[in-house]
Amino acid sequence: MNLKVIGAALIAFLTFAVTPSYANEATDPRATTGGAQTLEDILARQQGLEVDNTFRRQNQGNPDNAQPTSGALGSLGGISDADIYRGIRFSDVDIKVSNKGPAAEILVQDGGMSWLLTRENQIRQYAAYGLGGILVALTAFYFIRGRMTIEGGPSGETIERFKNFERFGHWCLAGSFIMLSITGLILLFGRAVIIPIFGHQVNGALANFSIWVHNNIAWVFMFSLVAIFLMWVKHNIPNKLDWEWLKMGGGIVGSGHPHAKKFNAGQKIIFWMTILLGASVSLSGLSLLFPFELPMFAKTFGIMNSVLGTAFPTDLLAHEEMQYAHLWHAIVAITMMIAILAHIYIGSVGMEGAFDAMGSGQVDLEWARQHHDLWVEEEQAKAAASSGGTQTVSQAGK
Ligand code: HEM
Repeated sequence: MNLKVIGAALIAFLTFAVTPSYANEATDPRATTGGAQTLEDILARQQGLEVDNTFRRQNQGNPDNAQPTSGALGSLGGISDADIYRGIRFSDVDIKVSNKGPAAEILVQDGGMSWLLTRENQIRQYAAYGLGGILVALTAFYFIRGRMTIEGGPSGETIERFKNFERFGHWCLAGSFIMLSITGLILLFGRAVIIPIFGHQVNGALANFSIWVHNNIAWVFMFSLVAIFLMWVKHNIPNKLDWEWLKMGGGIVGSGHPHAKKFNAGQKIIFWMTILLGASVSLSGLSLLFPFELPMFAKTFGIMNSVLGTAFPTDLLAHEEMQYAHLWHAIVAITMMIAILAHIYIGSVGMEGAFDAMGSGQVDLEWARQHHDLWVEEEQAKAAASSGGTQTVSQAGK
């Protein structure tokens, strides 16, 4: 055999046999860096792209390869400083601290930056688009559709729609929600909007005041949410009438007045949205009010994974729990604000006669017949049945 061929074969053999496995550039993009991150990884991270960190997370040295303690490298064993740092960064080392506070053993938390960036970018952007969008849509609707009036005008007779305690419950819920919304928005947008216009001091003072109001008024919201649920749940169970109501656009987009009892389908949607999102925002809020004491996301993700087949992480650090709670709290609160703005529109300027229901508690009988005809019949039948009972229909002003 030709010597040159043997030589080439030998060189090729030695190259493959001696080169470490990571040197196969076709399969391992980090071959050139000996397994460390590459320029592409760094550039991708700078562009805000997702970089799979598994190669670093798993690269934490191997204590089995430890030098004997008597050896030159004995104090570090098989683990170098960089390995230890990676272990701390990915919370994969057994840390003992003298401070026994919650989560004290977590020295570095890897998810902090993505939480901050999500809050400063997506959450703020979607909040601005969502709230701005609904305000524009409602204003346009007002100018296109106009105020919904009582057909044929008010009758002059009134019927009691909500009792004092119902209105008290509603206004506690509404008042607290509005204060929570304003203070929450100050906290979310303070750095982006207040600091550039009014400076750090004004934002600092406002933020301090806002968090204090937010943390305390939250209790009023939670208690009145429970009260509202107990008072009105029996009137909000969905039934066949709701489907008919929805098919007719509730008489809001079309004309005509679909039948309805005390609450129509549109109101039931607002009711259940308030209860379900209100409960969710309250639970995530409690988790934030008592840091590290009420972790909920790992368990919720676990249930979702087994029911829906999703793959959410279930092994969350204490800080990650707080970050998820914080982002979720903002997402749910903003969704609620958008829906409630539509509710406030209909309950005030959007519909003639509606505000009285929560103002004086007495609504015009004609308004009630047009929007809640079956409820009026029920109330009148009850009044007729209870001889000597409370008169539910009265002449206005008498
Ligand atoms: C200035 C703000 C608000 C006004 C003018 C207002 C007005 C009204 C009115 C007039 C009703 C009774 C409608 C009827 O006769 O059936 C009502 C009901 C209701 N409100 Fe409000 N509201 C306001 C804020 C809120 C807020 C912030 C929430 C919740 C966070 C809320 C939750 C509810 C619920 C759950 C009902 C019962 C279901 C329904 O009628 O949609 N309201 N509101």
